[in-house]
Amino acid sequence: MQMKTDFLVIGSGIAGLYFAIKAAEMGTVAIITKKEQAESNTNYAQGGIASVISADDSFDSHIADTLNAGAGLCHRDAVEVIVREGPARINELLTLGVEFTKKNNQLDLGREGGHSKHRIVHAADLTGHEVERALLEKVNQHPNIQVFENHAAIDLITEHHLVNTGKAEHRQNTHCWGAYVLDSKSNTVKTFLSSVTMLATGGTGQVYLHTTNPLIATGDGIAMAYRAGAKVGNMEFIQFHPTTLFNSGAPSFLISEAVRGFGGILRTRDGADFMKKYDARGSLAPRDIVARAIDSELKRSGDECVFLDVTHHKANETSSHFPNIYKRCLEFNIDITKDLIPVVPAAHYSCGGVVTDLYGSTSIVGLFACGEVSMTGVHGANRLASNSLLEALVFSTRAAAQIKEKKIYSSITPEIPEWDESGTVNADEWVLIAHDRKEIQQIMWDYVGIVRSNHRLDRANRRIQLILQEVLDFYKRTAVTAELIELRNLARTAELIIRSALSRKESRGLHYTTDYPKPNDSEWLRDTIVNS
Ligand code: FAD
Ligand code: SIN
Repeated sequence: MQMKTDFLVIGSGIAGLYFAIKAAEMGTVAIITKKEQAESNTNYAQGGIASVISADDSFDSHIADTLNAGAGLCHRDAVEVIVREGPARINELLTLGVEFTKKNNQLDLGREGGHSKHRIVHAADLTGHEVERALLEKVNQHPNIQVFENHAAIDLITEHHLVNTGKAEHRQNTHCWGAYVLDSKSNTVKTFLSSVTMLATGGTGQVYLHTTNPLIATGDGIAMAYRAGAKVGNMEFIQFHPTTLFNSGAPSFLISEAVRGFGGILRTRDGADFMKKYDARGSLAPRDIVARAIDSELKRSGDECVFLDVTHHKANETSSHFPNIYKRCLEFNIDITKDLIPVVPAAHYSCGGVVTDLYGSTSIVGLFACGEVSMTGVHGANRLASNSLLEALVFSTRAAAQIKEKKIYSSITPEIPEWDESGTVNADEWVLIAHDRKEIQQIMWDYVGIVRSNHRLDRANRRIQLILQEVLDFYKRTAVTAELIELRNLARTAELIIRSALSRKESRGLHYTTDYPKPNDSEWLRDTIVNS
């Protein structure tokens, strides 16, 4: 079955929805999303959106904090863009009906690690849920937008041309014309044709055993773009959030960095405020530093967790600032107004992704990327807290504006063959998929985590290469399913992370290796770019 649309958007988190709203002013938009429409990393975002709002803040200060966290690899032009265009995007969200928390009729501004000012716009501790609600409301009312739930993109549809560069040399020019998509309810593969495809598939957290990310975060967009030949960058920079609720067995639950911004102190079991040993900013140091410090304390003591302490605050202030965290912890018999919160780090955010310019364009014509799937240059080697939702808003707006200005879209698309499943059989050994998924997550957690070494990365590489090969063979023989799509993408994403980590022979930001414990500016002040 073929579907034609002016704009194809893959993903219904903040990046996809925001782009869709803007693109719908130009033509028809199809949003495909692999589960229910709200299921996304966005929906779980807690802390908020960083933006210069307060009179005592400045663009220069937000830019400096972002560059500082990024450890030398941020692209200054991209940072300037998100910081300077941030306040306008926050105003748009307010106009769209997002109900941010206010105090005395002004936006209440929180603070998080690495920020030198209070600048986090938030909706209590459920910011992402509130933003997603408001955007979906707008999207679902729009006559030009159609949302396809339970539709998982399998692969991008690409056409390759040899372009003569004039010196008897040829370069390959690739054009994207949409995607093959599995409707997982009817089990049919549909062809979505479009001259503009926006990849907004989010992050990669599910590559790791412990993650703050929901089940949808399987690196699909990065793997699809890589297979299509797009440039992918900085995949070694995986951010581990320092504080998720320690509770063996249950999925990780985030304890927002805003809790430390509120005055929360990290302590070891004996009550020591250990962060002072590692950084003058103590518990509010940037995430990479805090996560490594916790890792080091746990290795030293043999404990399973450290503790976050907000018991010195008034109980009603704590519970009203963090109603969701308060309620969730109570379910585990932890009253955060009286008890210390046991916490451990977990994989949280991918700073790398599909390389784009300042307008969301990738190295493939007609293919754009926004949000966590992209590498715009904003985050460098380590993302500053709450800059991610901001990046998604700013770059999806810029992409739509550029497409409009340059009239990049067209209703004419080439003839594309339908999906061909001949020669494949229905899989009967689901245990293989479940096993491989768990094995990838365990390998990545054990060997490609907060602290790395050549020995561990080599070991991970050998194992992931084997799994990847087996998964690719299985994929060729087997009729496609939602689980198989994810497994293939998880294996490729893991391979890209390891390959990039092995190639960076220094420590910088989120990539720390005991073999090269220091940054090496003379050789490594550059992005790690790979393509297929
Ligand atoms: P997502 O919101 O993850 O959306 C991706 C969409 O793509 C989903 O709809 C998914 O179903 C869909 N999808 C994926 N693959 C496919 C496929 N193959 N086919 C079809 N659809 C597909 N950042 C901040 O700035 N501030 C915060 O306070 C903050 N808190 C966070 C708290 C948590 C617990 C987490 C997990 C993240 C947090 N982040 C925060 C990070 C931020 O939420 C994400 O980076 C951001 O929401 C990503 O938005 P996105 O639109 O790019 O992707
Ligand atoms: C948090 O609330 O700690 C998450 C903020 C972020 O990831 O930017």
